[in-house]
Formats: sequence, C-alpha cells, structure tokens
Amino acid sequence: MQSLVRRHGTPVMAISRDALKRQVTRFREALPRVEPFYAIKANSHPEVLKVMVSTKANFDVASIAEIDAVLAAGGKPSQMIFANTIKPVESIVAATQRGVDLMTFDSEYELDKIAENAPGARVLLRIKVPNIGSVVELSLKFGAEPADAMDLLIKAHKLGLRPVGVSFHVGSQCTHLENYIEALELAAILVRDAKLKQLPAEIVDIGGGFPIRHFDGDEDYFEQTSAVIRREIDRLFDPNVRLIAEPGRFLVGPAGTLLMRVIGKAIRDNKHWYYLDDGVYGALSGMIFDHAKYEFKVLRGGRTQLSTLAGPTCDSLDIISRGEDLPEMDLGDVVYVENVGAYSSASATTFNGVPPARVVMVP
Ligand SMILES: Cc1ncc(COP(=O)(O)O)c(C=O)c1O
Repeated sequence: MQSLVRRHGTPVMAISRDALKRQVTRFREALPRVEPFYAIKANSHPEVLKVMVSTKANFDVASIAEIDAVLAAGGKPSQMIFANTIKPVESIVAATQRGVDLMTFDSEYELDKIAENAPGARVLLRIKVPNIGSVVELSLKFGAEPADAMDLLIKAHKLGLRPVGVSFHVGSQCTHLENYIEALELAAILVRDAKLKQLPAEIVDIGGGFPIRHFDGDEDYFEQTSAVIRREIDRLFDPNVRLIAEPGRFLVGPAGTLLMRVIGKAIRDNKHWYYLDDGVYGALSGMIFDHAKYEFKVLRGGRTQLSTLAGPTCDSLDIISRGEDLPEMDLGDVVYVENVGAYSSASATTFNGVPPARVVMVP
C-alpha cells in the first residue's frame, strides 16, 4: 500500500485485475447455469470493462454512454442487455443503430416507444418482486405488477416485438434469500403461462443483488445465496430456459481498495478529528447513494481511541464516520477501505474542485 501511495499519491482507488477475474470465476462456479451480464453502473472504468471482456462476461448497460463504453472496451452489441426499463426515445434509436436489440421494459408506454423505434426488438418484462431487507431497494421505482405481466407480454407480441422472457431485481446487497426464492417462482409461473400462449419466453434474467462482505467479520452470504438459487433454478426451469443475471457489486466490489491520507487534524469536543483527502463527495459517495458502510483501516498500530473521520470538502455532510476506533494518527498517515470497488468511483463528483480518486489497476 505504501508503494502504491508513493507511486500514485492519494486518494487512489486500486482495482485488482486478479480479484475481478476471481469474482467472475466464483460466480460461474457457483451458478453454472447463469450467464453473468456485468452491470457496468457499479464501475464503468475502461480497464475494468477490458478485464470483463477478457473473461467473456456479457454486460448490463443502462444508457448510450454505457453501451459506447462497452464497445470501446471491445465488447459486442450481442453481449449487451439494455436493462433500463425507462429509456429516452433517442437512446432506443441509438441502441438499435449500434445493434443492441435486447432490452427491458415494465410498462405499456415503454412498449409503445420500443415498438416504434426498435421494431422487432427482443424484450424482457421486468416484474416487481420483494426487495425485503436488501440494502438498496429497487422495486420501489421499477417493475410491473405480476398480475399485469401476461397482458404486457401479449401486448409486446401484438406490437411486433419478441417478448423473450422476464427479469427482476431483488434489491442490491440482498441477504434475504426468500426474495430470490419468491422472484424465481413468479418468473417460472410467467414463463410457463407465456409458453402456453405460444410466446417465445425463453430467458429469465435474475438481475443483481448478490451480496459481498464489507467488514472483515461479516458473514459471506454469497455461497449460501447461490446454493439456494442453483437449487431453485434446477427445480423450476427446464434446460431450454436461458438464465442470465446482472451482477454489479459482486463482480467489482471486492476488487477495489481506496487509499486516502490524513490532510488535517483537530481536536473537537475532546475527540480527534482526522480530515482525509477523499470523502462522501468522492469515492466514498456510496455512503450516500448506496447506503454503504465501510471498514476504515490504518497502517499504524497503537492504543486506539474513538475518532471522527471527515472528507476534504467544505460541507458538514462530508463527515465520513463519527465513531471509529483508531490509533492516534499524524498528517500524511494512510487510511484505507477494502471491498469498495462498486458504486464508489462511479458516483464520485468534483464538488469544491476536489478531484475524484485516481483509479489504478493492480495485479
Ligand atoms: C437493472 C439493474 N441491474 C443490475 C444492477 C446491479 O445490481 P447489484 O450491484 O446489486 O448486483 C442494478 C443496480 O442498481 C440494476 O438497477
């Protein structure tokens, strides 16, 4: 870590290529029937995308900029799903021009837009599923009611589109296994009913949500989660059904380590305050947007005391943590966070002119 800091300065986000590849392999081994489409919203750094291309993973994209980022990294249009259920008309047109013809929808209005601007496209209906206990709730804003699903699939067919299946998202960082169980059951019922109506329902997209560890002491829920999904998939879907997923956090989260330095120090209310060179407007923005909690580590030992960590901007919102047990630090000391590769740099801003952490790739 010291050599990374010496070479690149701080703040710096180190992304491990080996860890990225390891996570893809872990996903494939745990869920052999499920093709991963990396949700690039989690981290769309060009080098991350190149590693994903090298693993032959596919991609979940949510905008034209994301489609172009995947193309620039060497991905093909056929490897992408445009998994944003509400798309500007111009984006539907541009996606089609680029050859991306698989997209999600969850309302009649979106179907009309797709039918007019991407005739014959393959569409997946996103259904609303329980998001209980997930750290980021995603069924609040998206997903058709399962009761409306068949009508929407039939309408897609009538409009000349190919309703190829259903998708769902159980919420990000999902540790409540029942969410997956219930969602898979709903999807299985819809696929069966769609087939009875001669619709080409052949794909089930199980979304993202696969959990990672943020703290050393946390339980690793992934193996448990994937074992249940594997069992349910084998029980519910015959081998002709193609299963895909949109993991974001799981693939890139464990690969990222953020290194910061203490740039200021104060005693306030008898407590040590350490001001770091990155904060909630930067690569720790996941604390706001992703409801993330992180483990802050330091490179020095010694007797610890309750301390506060704050970011470099002028806003009081930019207080990172008020209750960290830390040894006394000096200016220039390194504070680092592991497992922070997802939803971190992706949502960093340059508020106050503070540049976001530099992203560097490491083995
Ligand atoms: C449509 C969609 N797919 C996939 C993902 C990735 O989810 P996760 O990072 O939990 O795997 C998200 C996250 O917001 C999403 O909205």
